[in-house]
This record gives sequence, C-alpha cells and structure tokens, in this order.
Amino acid sequence: MVRAWLLSEEKTLVPKFITLEELYKTSGVEYYQIDITRYQDDPLLKNLMDQRDNHHVNPIKDLDDQDLLAHITEHFHEHDEPRLVLAGCGYFDVRDKYDEWIRIELIPGDLLVIPGGCYHRFIVENKDTFQGVRFLKDYGYRAFPRPSDEMNCRKDYMRRLYNGAYDDPIKSE
Ligand SMILES: [Fe+2]
Repeated sequence: MVRAWLLSEEKTLVPKFITLEELYKTSGVEYYQIDITRYQDDPLLKNLMDQRDNHHVNPIKDLDDQDLLAHITEHFHEHDEPRLVLAGCGYFDVRDKYDEWIRIELIPGDLLVIPGGCYHRFIVENKDTFQGVRFLKDYGYRAFPRPSDEMNCRKDYMRRLYNGAYDDPIKSE
C-alpha cells in the first residue's frame, strides 16, 4: 500500500500520514496502481496517456550522478508527468498548496501523475536497482527549477488548486 506523509521541518517521532484523497486535494497529484507485467497494454494507463497526449515513453534506469542531481533538484514541468515504478523504491516529494512537502513512497506498480506547474523532486533508494518509466508529451521535456513562479503553467496550476479543481475525488476511468 502506497504511503504519503508530510515532511515536517521539525523533527517528529511519528510521521503524519495523509490519505491519497488528501494528497490529491492539496496538490492535484493522482495515484494509480498498475500491473507492471502488462503495463504497456493497461487500459487505465493508456487512457491517462491519451487524455494528456503524452505518448513519449522515457525509461528511467542506470541513473548516473547527473541524473540523480536533476531528479532531486526542486522543479516543475509545463505538462503533467505520469511516472510508473517498475523496480526498486523511490520517493516523490511534492509541494502542496501550502508549500509544504509531501513525501510519497513508491514501489513497483505505483503510478503518480504530477500536474504541470507543481514543484517536485524525486529520490531513489538505490540507483542500481531502481527502474521506472515516464510518459511525456515530447522529447524536449524541460524542467524549470524553483523559482519559476512567473510561468503561466505555474499560475494556472495554483489557480486550479485554489479554485477547488481538485476538491472532488478522482473520477474512475
Ligand atoms: Fe520532474
């Protein structure tokens, strides 16, 4: 079962776990579970890719130090970033609407969709064993480091967050 919790600046003895509904409501981040033995044919994943027109499949494996640094640096993208874990363990940190970090622990079969304009970073537990795949809009996929708050995709995302666009649960596909 996927776990998500608030990364408090203060040291607390017990993590404050949040539900996936709370994750979505405060960040717009979507979570799905995918059968990785047949993910290429998964109708839910295909639907998510079609909805966003994200048809460029980008493997994440054999990560070198430069890759790790790029992933761990806080950034956002213009478009939604669906990412599926195939092997190993990773942690996605996303900023919620209050600018607090939420950490999401991901194992094989976990798929997150990070909305365009949402600041995030990604850390793998072991770079030698981690494998994943991203579904991107195109090859020229850019990361915009913090601060890039002047970009329209960021303003649009914040507007959606504060206008209640993520208040209702995700509709089943
Ligand atoms: Fe990213």
